[in-house]
Parts: sequence; structure tokens; C-alpha cells
Amino acid sequence: MTDSVKILGFAGSLRTGSYNKSALRAAVNLVPAGSTLEIVDLEGIPLFNEDHEKEFPPGAREFKAKVRAADAILIVTPEYNYSIPGVLKNAIDWASRPHGHSAWNGKPVGIMGASIGMFGTARAQNHLRQMFVFLNMFPLNHPEVMIANAAEKFDEQGNLIDLKTSEKIKTLLEALVNWTQRLKKARA
Ligand code: FNR
Repeated sequence: MTDSVKILGFAGSLRTGSYNKSALRAAVNLVPAGSTLEIVDLEGIPLFNEDHEKEFPPGAREFKAKVRAADAILIVTPEYNYSIPGVLKNAIDWASRPHGHSAWNGKPVGIMGASIGMFGTARAQNHLRQMFVFLNMFPLNHPEVMIANAAEKFDEQGNLIDLKTSEKIKTLLEALVNWTQRLKKARA
């Protein structure tokens, strides 16, 4: 199948020099021909408040609309205290509400993450996978992209300089496009 796949990607860090944002930017140039990766920044999404889930505040409304319009999702997560950062959880929570109107339902999703530590966000990625069960998302199991010792993999401008990591991200994106096309075909 050669159907174009529209991927929406976001990083769970607001930090200007974020390794995860850098990895996501690198991914844009590694998407298979014919498919696209649009980046959305989580800056500006307010803290979730169930009082406002019937009428979303602007930042959350725009984010949810982008999720809904995407064929597939790419989440690039840092690891904070062995889990995912609050800003990422917050964005996931908004787009899952109100109950019965989640934008995540049935979406194929790929994950990767960069950490300055030696486990490359392995524990945070497992927590994301646990959430996908309730959200009824369809995660890509392989390849797993865990960018350990991130300070050595990017230059000072945030360019990815590690060829192996770049190849892994490329393989992940190819697999995500393929997985999305297979799911689309199965639903048709
Ligand atoms: C961290 N960091 C971290 N790293 C890790 O491998 N495992 C962890 O559990 C944690 N915990 C943690 C908690 C908090 C609150 C912070 C701020 C940081 C370090 C983390 O890998 C590092 O700050 C990365 O650079 C964060 O990703 P970005 O912002 O570069 O994308």
C-alpha cells in the first residue's frame, strides 16, 4: 500500500534545549516519502480541569483537534522520576475527555524517548504503553527507540549526530507508516 499517512508528533518537554524535541525534529526528515510528520508543541495547554471539559480552553481544544485529524501519533517522551512528565500526561488527559469522546480511540501510535541516563526512558515508555490499553490505542511494539546518554547524541544546536539513533528513528517511522496502513486496510 502506498497511502499517505499523516503523523502528529509531540515531545513531553517544554525545555528550549530539550533532547526529546531535538529527536522529534530529526524525525521530520526521516519520514518515509509520501507521508508527513507534523509537530505540535505542548506549550500553552492549560492544566486539566474537569470543570472545563465540556467547553475546552483554547490550547487544549486545538491540541485535541490535531490529534483527531491525525492518522497516527508519535510520542517522544522524557523520563521524569521513572515515569512520563506531567506536561505529557496533562495533554493526554485533555484529548481523552469528555468520557466517550476521546480523540485517541483507535489511533496507531509509535513511541520513542531520550534521557541523559543509561536506560533511555525505558520505564516512562512502559507507563505510556499501560495508558494505551485504556485509551484503546494501537501501539507499535517494535522497534523500541530508547535514546540513552542523550548528551552524546546531539550537538549544541540540537542536531542529531548519532547515525545509529538516526537509523533507529527511520526504522520506527517506516514501521509506524506500515502499521497505520495495515490497520486502515483491515478497517476498510
Ligand atoms: C529527570 N531525569 C531523569 N532521567 C532518567 O533517565 N530517569 C528519570 O527518572 C529521570 N527523572 C527526572 C526527573 C525530573 C523532574 C527531571 C527534570 C529530570 C533527567 C532527564 O533525562 C533529563 O532532564 C532530560 O534532558 C529531560 O528531557 P529533555 O527536556 O531534554 O527532553
